[in-house]
Amino acid sequence: MVNETVKEIFELKKQKNAVILAHNYQREEIQNIADFVGDSLELSRKAVELECDIIVFCGVHFMAETASILNPEKTVLLPEIDAGCPMADMIDARKLTKWASQFPDTPVIAYVNTTAEVKALSYACCTSANAPEIVKAVPFEKILFVPDKNLADWVKRKVPEKEIIPWDGFCPTHHMIKKDDVIRSKELYPNALVVVHPECRPEVIDLADHVASTSGMVRFAKSSSAKEFLIGTETGLIYRLKKENPDKNFYPLKKTMICPNMKVTTLESVLTALRDMKHIIKVPEDIRLKAKEAIERMFTLYKPKN
Ligand code: 13P
Ligand code: SF4
Repeated sequence: MVNETVKEIFELKKQKNAVILAHNYQREEIQNIADFVGDSLELSRKAVELECDIIVFCGVHFMAETASILNPEKTVLLPEIDAGCPMADMIDARKLTKWASQFPDTPVIAYVNTTAEVKALSYACCTSANAPEIVKAVPFEKILFVPDKNLADWVKRKVPEKEIIPWDGFCPTHHMIKKDDVIRSKELYPNALVVVHPECRPEVIDLADHVASTSGMVRFAKSSSAKEFLIGTETGLIYRLKKENPDKNFYPLKKTMICPNMKVTTLESVLTALRDMKHIIKVPEDIRLKAKEAIERMFTLYKPKN
């Protein structure tokens, strides 16, 4: 049955000239059928490079929206329309406009985990893979940072010379890890390196050996001589970490670190998406153009080495 579904997906993909992109948190079976698996920065860059008619985005809404903003001529499909990001939903254009009016002439840096409307009001975007570099590179001493207060705190540590005013948002999945979880896990695995995502609380960052985006964690695990790692991010990443490092051991800092939105996409929903061409993600043109400017400024301000 699963094999039948996979076969049908591959047939439709070929017939319709489609490409499947999957975020690192997706279910194992989705990662296995994807043409490319990566973090938000890699997926947004990939979306621009692709030569195809359709992108099936296995991730959450803002990711598919970013792909659509950058590729208006391609059809971007989000298999599960309710796959949202609760952190992105913690700010909208109305709230941002009201808040920003208290800080005249202070530009907004928006984490990509935001809606197109919020990006359209921002000077530049950033992801967890480049946030400190972007904040360092913008020609302003004082910025507003939305929506993640934990990521903002981490950036402040890396770029102390700038004044960063954060919005009070957070990711429920990463915010759930507390200092005690790290202490208990380290007692269980004393030789393991603690690797966490910058969406974690500052008290968790304090105890980490390394802080990185999801794909940054994969690169770190590959290059490290350590054999054991405690991973502080959505548990979906552990599948990729194990697959690409079969000689190393990875343990979640907390087993319940699951983003329900990242798990709703199934093989069945990918098949339905391709067969019935749904759900098409499109952004109104005036908002798209402004949001595109903020995303493209991110690409201009910081060019990663790999
Ligand atoms: P990455 O950009 O590190 O993949 O993270 C995206 C995300 O949603 C983290 O929760
Ligand atoms: Fe959003 Fe957090 Fe889920 Fe990432 S893990 S998509 S930030 S809710």
